[in-house]
This record gives sequence, structure tokens and C-alpha cells, in this order.
Amino acid sequence: MSKKKFGILTSGGDAPGMNAAIRSFVRQSLSKGHEVFGFERGYDGLIDSKGDWLSNRSVGHIIQRGGTFLKTSRSQRFREKEFRAIANDTLKNLSLDALCVIGGNGSFKGLEVLCSEFNLIGVGIPATIDNDILNVKEALGFDTAWNTAVEMVDKVRDTAESHDRVILIEVMGRDSANLAEAIGISVGAQFVLSHENQFDEAVLSIQNSLASSKKSCLIICLESPQNKLINDFQKLIDLKITTNESRKCILGYVQRGGSPSARDRWLGYHFAKDALSNLLNAKQGSFGVVGLKI
Ligand code: F6P
Repeated sequence: MSKKKFGILTSGGDAPGMNAAIRSFVRQSLSKGHEVFGFERGYDGLIDSKGDWLSNRSVGHIIQRGGTFLKTSRSQRFREKEFRAIANDTLKNLSLDALCVIGGNGSFKGLEVLCSEFNLIGVGIPATIDNDILNVKEALGFDTAWNTAVEMVDKVRDTAESHDRVILIEVMGRDSANLAEAIGISVGAQFVLSHENQFDEAVLSIQNSLASSKKSCLIICLESPQNKLINDFQKLIDLKITTNESRKCILGYVQRGGSPSARDRWLGYHFAKDALSNLLNAKQGSFGVVGLKI
């Protein structure tokens, strides 16, 4: 098989396991005689031609690190055709045969457009703690974020129980309740709230629980712009529930950081392996995502 040159970048929100996937993609490519160029800061690095050729050593000691050593961005410029044309020039100037993008829905949409506009080969490795990629069972980062959040919520429970409080905990996920539901089940939350339509049901659930022998409650709330969902719900329960004090806790970016779990490292390895084989067998102008459900 002829030797190829690939580009790789990470795009969108960082997710634990991105580094494991980069390492695996680079090392497996080099072992087969191919070369890999790593772009910095996602599609912005592709547009600005910023990055370097990666070696076995340059991806050493990153498997255990959270975030992405290539850095990432949510490129606004890449949404415009004019800048995608510049990105295509970068790929041509570096004689790259194909591009591997590690990211989520928005990043893949951009790659798909780029591939079809300029007859390129692209592959996507799913990585987002939101775990909201269409037809993908499990994205990189989800397992770590889930475990991190469970550890944090278990700590919050100590306070809830000691003070007989109702504590609302906001978790990430953008528009998807996948992470919130996984956390809720694993911590034994009273309710997982992802929409204001559920307010009445959630209040009733808390009231019923406090009317029984339970003295405290944990509610997992999906994040929302300006924390509107959690704030509005707290106002409502403060009106409806007078027996117990309420508090809220926004978990925030701790969910996205930290050393990847063994599972996310393992997924990173396998996704990268599949991505490489996908690129080697793809037709010009094609785009695919690895890790799809059968
Ligand atoms: O997509 C991952 C995610 O953490 C979402 O859960 C969240 O809505 C968003 O990214 C936050 O993005 P930013 O890094 O721009 O604050």
C-alpha cells in the first residue's frame, strides 16, 4: 500500500480521551509508514496552517492527560466557504491525503461539507462528554465525565443528608439529557430534570419523597442558558416545599477535565484504529464517522 499523509485535529469542547486517540492514530499510522500532521486549535489551525508533523515521541506521555494537547476551538471562520477554501489550500500545500477530526456534531458537519466541496477524504472520531452524536453509542469523554460527576454528586449528598436539604445539581450536556440521565441513575437521584414541562412532576416527586421517611433529595438538572432551568425550578420548589431548605450546585467544567478513564483510553485506541483503516479504504469526496451503532 502506498504511503499516505494525514492531518489530525481536535475540535469543539475538549473531552477526556482525545489525547489517547491522537496518540493511537499517530503511532499506528507511523508504524505503517504513513505521516501525520497535527493542526493546533481545531479548524482555526487548519485555516492558519499552524501545527507540526507528529512523531512517536511528540505523542508520548499524553495518554493519561485530559484535554487535548493539540488544543481546540469552536471555529467561527470555518463556517464560511471562503475560509474552508483556505483550509483546503493548507491541506494541498502540505500534500495531505485525508483529514481525521476528533470532535462532536458541529465538527463533523464542518468536515462533511469540506469533503464534499473539495473532494477530500475525512473521518470523524466521536468525542464529547454530551454523548449526543447521532447513531453513536458512546463518544470519547462520556465515561470519564460520568464517573467524575458521580464522584462529585456523592460528595454533595453528604451535605444534603446532614442538613436535610433538597439540592439541585446542574450538569452539562447542552441540549441532550444523556449525561444527566446517566448521572441521575448512578447517584440514585430523586429526579432528572431536563425541561420545564417536567416541573410539576418533579415537585410532586420531591413532595412524595419527603412525606415518606426521606429527609433529603438530590435533583439532577440539565444545564441551560444563564442557568434558567435550575434557577426557575429552585424558585418553584421554594414556594411549594416549605419543610426543607433548597440549595443549588453547578458542577461546570470539572466534568470535562481530568485524566481519562480506562474505558475512554480504550475507546480512543479502537476509534483511532478504525479511523485509520477507514481513511485507507475511503473514496475521494467521502466522509465517515467511526464508532457507529450496528
Ligand atoms: O459539548 C460539551 C459542552 O461541555 C456542553 O456540555 C456545554 O454546553 C458546552 O460544551 C460548553 O461549551 P464552552 O466550552 O464553550 O463553554
